[in-house]
Amino acid sequence: MRRCGISNGFVLHLAGACVALAILAGSLLHAQTATEDRLLYHAWWPRHSSPSAAEYTGPAECAKCHVGKATTQKNTPMARTALPAADSDILAARERLTFQAAKINYQISSASGKSVYTVTDGTQTLSAPLMWSFGDGHVGQSYLFERDGNFYESRASYFDSLKALDFTPGRKLTEPQNVGQAMARPVSGAELVRCFSCHATASTISDKFDRSRIIPGISCEACHGPGARHAGAQKLAAAEGQVLDDNSKTDPKTDLIFNPASLKPADSVDFCGSCHGTWWDVKLAPPVGVANVRAQPYRLEKSRCWGKSGDARITCVACHDPHEKLVRDTASYDKNCLSCHLVNSSAKPTADHPGTACKVSTKDCASCHMPKYELADFHYRFTDHDIRVVRPDAPYPE
Ligand code: HEC
Ligand code: HEC
Ligand code: HEC
Ligand code: HEC
Ligand code: HEC
Ligand code: HEC
Ligand code: HEC
Repeated sequence: MRRCGISNGFVLHLAGACVALAILAGSLLHAQTATEDRLLYHAWWPRHSSPSAAEYTGPAECAKCHVGKATTQKNTPMARTALPAADSDILAARERLTFQAAKINYQISSASGKSVYTVTDGTQTLSAPLMWSFGDGHVGQSYLFERDGNFYESRASYFDSLKALDFTPGRKLTEPQNVGQAMARPVSGAELVRCFSCHATASTISDKFDRSRIIPGISCEACHGPGARHAGAQKLAAAEGQVLDDNSKTDPKTDLIFNPASLKPADSVDFCGSCHGTWWDVKLAPPVGVANVRAQPYRLEKSRCWGKSGDARITCVACHDPHEKLVRDTASYDKNCLSCHLVNSSAKPTADHPGTACKVSTKDCASCHMPKYELADFHYRFTDHDIRVVRPDAPYPE
């Protein structure tokens, strides 16, 4: 069995493929699967690397017909999660960001669409133009730059709660050997491919990382798969005055785009889990303690609400529309809870409402049952998707 890989920092701690174990145990215990195993099959799955450049068309094309979804999706944090540094609003709005750690000074100065990252210990100074911003910034933003053909991750990142720079999560160095080490961490080939596969679209083409064609952020085709053939077929049909109904699965000519709406609950959660971390992705990786709160699919499937194999009412898309910004008002999720839970505590659970009623409250369920945990490195409170009764002083259920 291969050793499962790990990564740090902003990166979710996900496993490499432990294929035999995952498939065997997966079929015995849970229907869900590790992402690396999904990617072994040729059928479309997010982060797939095999489609060719010609199969992708880009979100501007989709927007011509799917106006509503395109208008809202492009402003989501997912759509903006990897951008050329020149397009980062955070950098554009701040001429100078600095932070000091021991004798090292970190600075990012931005002017006319160019951002330069400078690190100095007072004697030696290193500078580099930033190339990519990762993270839309509502939690934090990290930067990649290139030197001599190699990619580096800035050791300083921006944090929204601080409105300032601090160490990139997990990358703090108290005693750097030199300014180069203090400045950044090299990001090797395989890791770079992974970063872009979770943060951008079509970065790996015909199984080769191709930085010249990366579509910034998670755009339509990162989830729906390459869409040139679908767009082409629909354009042709429109020109002929027809409407091709892609829902009519009987006609293979029209079945040219992946529609995740048809996935079973466990597959649907694994679908989002291809980047957010599936149950197996977490189980196969070394334990990370409370940091696994960021792997929502794992947390959700641990919850008693999930039951044995899930239910369409408790998938990610039941609560979140991936084409729209996250809804921050926790009370607005009550309808999701109450699609399964009873309101009246004297009523008996039914097949339709298998969840018991709460004796404590009838509203704002998530505010008590989906607690938030601060991850110090991230300067952010993440929502625990392990929905449960939270007892005071109970340890975090890993
Ligand atoms: C020329 C117009 C046109 C373009 C361009 C286009 N679509 Fe569509 N799309 C349609 C029509 C029409 C349908 C079928 C009716 C419907 O479900 O809205 C459809 C259906 C879909 C579906 C549902 C498929 C199913 O099996 O039910 C998805 C998903 C989709 N499109 C995504 C995309 C994406 C992603 C792009 C860009 C890569 C894109 N479309 C480009 C017109 C278009
Ligand atoms: C190709 C990778 C990928 C897939 C697939 C994916 N996500 Fe994400 N998602 C991300 C990344 C990266 C972020 C971080 C955005 C940021 O803060 O920069 C994110 C952020 C989010 C957020 C938080 C946005 C906010 O406003 O705080 C939600 C909610 C979310 N995703 C839901 C989903 C759902 C639901 C699905 C499945 C339908 C899904 N994601 C599939 C990569 C992905
Ligand atoms: C397996 C997929 C995956 C890989 C690989 C990955 N990320 Fe992420 N990243 C995510 C997801 C999903 C989120 C959103 C997590 C959330 O909000 O719960 C995220 C969030 C972020 C954020 C926003 C801050 C935050 O934590 O929400 C930054 C910055 C970031 N990633 C940088 C990177 C960099 C740099 C790399 C490579 C060195 C990388 N990521 C690799 C999936 C991934
Ligand atoms: C993060 C993943 C993600 C991204 C990005 C995304 N979608 Fe979707 N899309 C989904 C999922 C999941 C569904 C099914 C939702 C459901 O089951 O309710 C869906 C459904 C759809 C449908 C409707 C299918 C139906 O049966 O009603 C269309 C059309 C569509 N998406 C178009 C787009 C377009 C156009 C874009 C880019 C502007 C886009 N999507 C971006 C995940 C995504
Ligand atoms: C798919 C249906 C479904 C949905 C949606 C759902 N639950 Fe549940 N939940 C259940 C079932 C079934 C149980 C187990 C029986 C019981 O304790 O009611 C459960 C158990 C619970 C428990 C007790 C867990 C424990 O540790 O004993 C809490 C608390 C809870 N749910 C709260 C919520 C909240 C809050 C939401 C919305 C954010 C929610 N549920 C959404 C079905 C669901
Ligand atoms: C029963 C409803 C429900 C389900 C199901 C659900 N979420 Fe959430 N999600 C929430 C709530 C509530 C919040 C917190 C909103 C807030 O307070 O800002 C949230 C927040 C998030 C965030 C923002 C980061 C954070 O930690 O606050 C991400 C990312 C996310 N969910 C992804 C997912 C993914 C992926 C799935 C599927 C595994 C999923 N969610 C399933 C209710 C749900
Ligand atoms: C103010 C915090 C709070 C809110 C808001 C809240 N709950 Fe609870 N809930 C609790 C506590 C505390 C318990 C444990 C009660 C006990 O065991 O005495 C509980 C218990 C439960 C249980 C377990 C019931 C049992 O007897 O096993 C479920 C299910 C539940 N809540 C669902 C919900 C739902 C659904 C909502 C929204 C309609 C909700 N809760 C709103 C605090 C809250």
